[in-house]
Amino acid sequence: MPDVVETIAGLRSQLRLARVDAVSGGLGRPRVALVPTMGALHDGHLALVERAKERAEIVVVSIFVNPLQFGPSEDLALYPRTVESDVERLAAHGVQIVFAPTVGEIYPGGDLQTKITAGDIGSLYEGRSRRGHFDGVLTVVAKLLNIVRPDTVVFGEKDAQQVFLVKRMIADLNVDVDVAAVTTVREDDGLALSSRNRFLDPKQRRAARSLSIALEAASSSADRGIDSVIAAAQSVLTGDSTIELDYLAVVDPTTFLPVDDGAHGRALVLIAARVGETRLIDNVTVYLA
Ligand code: PAF
Repeated sequence: MPDVVETIAGLRSQLRLARVDAVSGGLGRPRVALVPTMGALHDGHLALVERAKERAEIVVVSIFVNPLQFGPSEDLALYPRTVESDVERLAAHGVQIVFAPTVGEIYPGGDLQTKITAGDIGSLYEGRSRRGHFDGVLTVVAKLLNIVRPDTVVFGEKDAQQVFLVKRMIADLNVDVDVAAVTTVREDDGLALSSRNRFLDPKQRRAARSLSIALEAASSSADRGIDSVIAAAQSVLTGDSTIELDYLAVVDPTTFLPVDDGAHGRALVLIAARVGETRLIDNVTVYLA
């Protein structure tokens, strides 16, 4: 079983021990990879763990439902908390250290005086619907990077805007860490794995498939340009009253700004929709002709 530590001091001492073990086992200076999560782990998270294991000898998985990235009307209280089964799954994947701090450990004294702001891109798409969300994400990621000091940090491509903003923060603040982004893991019918999928009832679960179908339609229309991409995705989504589209955007992956009409080359199609009470996001890379 992994060592489950709740305090920053405990985490640092476990890391020291793991480093000493690695050196005395003849491994030289071991690399450390961090997989930040909010728990409720699924196979998508385990794919991040597998990537972390390729990159490092010591893998730390953090499990922390970060209040700072939830708005007042969001599902913080309802967010699934399944630490025991999460730890079992991580044990089966050979994770050595799980960092599962309390809110008080990460935010002693409540609110922070100093926070990271995600800038203009942080208030588009997800950030427009979830004000302050990315400030909260970047602040906790910065704290976790400072606590763990990993060589590599691993994220999932499903949260494409999060990956973009984390990379920007790391570049802007000269943080010495590599970022690895792992391809989205999907159910057999295409639905991207998400901790929130468990909230879907059977009818909503069937409807949720439309997100990935819309993205497939967008991708197959890319050789006809951006208008066709949007029309193809919209036609899938508007056919289903269970789905309330939040945004559909085609962005340049290097800037995360919307692509211009007539743009060519690689682009990212982002989608967010509410299926009942559950908000889902997904994305696909397309090649505009
Ligand atoms: O992607 C998530 O689960 C969260 O946003 C993260 C990166 C763990 C920060 O709380």
